[in-house]
Amino acid sequence: MLRFFPQKNKYIQEEGEFEFSQEGPVPKHIAVIMDGNGRWAQNRRLPRVAGHKEGMETVKKITKHASKLGVKVLTLYAFSTENWKRPTEEVDFLMQLPVDFFDAFVPELVKENVRIHVMGYKEFLPAHTQDAVARAIEQTKDNTGMVLNFALNYGSRAEIVSAVKEVYQEVLETGGDGDMIDEAMISKHLMTGFLPEELRDPELLIRTSGEERISNFLLWQIAYSELFFTDALWPDFNEELLEISIASFQNRDRRFGGLKNKEENK
Ligand code: IPE
Ligand code: IPE
Ligand code: MG
Repeated sequence: MLRFFPQKNKYIQEEGEFEFSQEGPVPKHIAVIMDGNGRWAQNRRLPRVAGHKEGMETVKKITKHASKLGVKVLTLYAFSTENWKRPTEEVDFLMQLPVDFFDAFVPELVKENVRIHVMGYKEFLPAHTQDAVARAIEQTKDNTGMVLNFALNYGSRAEIVSAVKEVYQEVLETGGDGDMIDEAMISKHLMTGFLPEELRDPELLIRTSGEERISNFLLWQIAYSELFFTDALWPDFNEELLEISIASFQNRDRRFGGLKNKEENK
């Protein structure tokens, strides 16, 4: 856990400090649970929605920096299928945010060659949100750089249920049976299935705000992701903290169930 120490005015990693290396492997796919907007606002005696607005600025900063570092896919958890439980006023604000965000930021994204994708149950979003999403996707569809993938009205269990239904349909239509179902087929039908196979699963998952849970995000896809937690609230997350999280990733020993020394696996 990367924690803020007010006496030192510094973030310190409990596991030891690591140097970020531009040459070291940069995760191809980073997923982020952007949490802590409400607390950021409450700490300033502001309404919760002020935190969401500020969080949008962090999205811009992190998108540009991730793209500069060579990240191929940045998946941001913006609204979960469970977030509808919040007060109407907050939900309405969160549904307006993509409209403001895309209108203001798409020209810059075009310049940065970033392609927008939105995964989630878009059909349940209000019409103005759906329109803004469709416009942003259309305006960036020819970009060939980083994919900025927003999870909007996304929930991983619902996603798995949808995938199972599609797999069932495919089995029926092809006249096959249960034996044709494998991991590749399920992965293809998940909402990350639009990505090339080698980019579907995030290598690094970051969660801000100090909570150490997954909250129904990418349950299948994070099977072997490295997890990084920081107590920084999302509006306080920045380029430096992104580099620290990547530095931590660069110092992990990813074994995928094998042994540390690849020779020993033979
Ligand atoms: C994350 O911040 C943004 C969304 C879930 C939409 P929160 O709104 O969850 O902020 P906290 O966790 O209440 O501080
Ligand atoms: C997860 O944050 C969802 C998003 C960041 C969009 P929440 O704030 O909704 O998660 P919980 O309620 O703390 O688990
Ligand atoms: Mg939260």
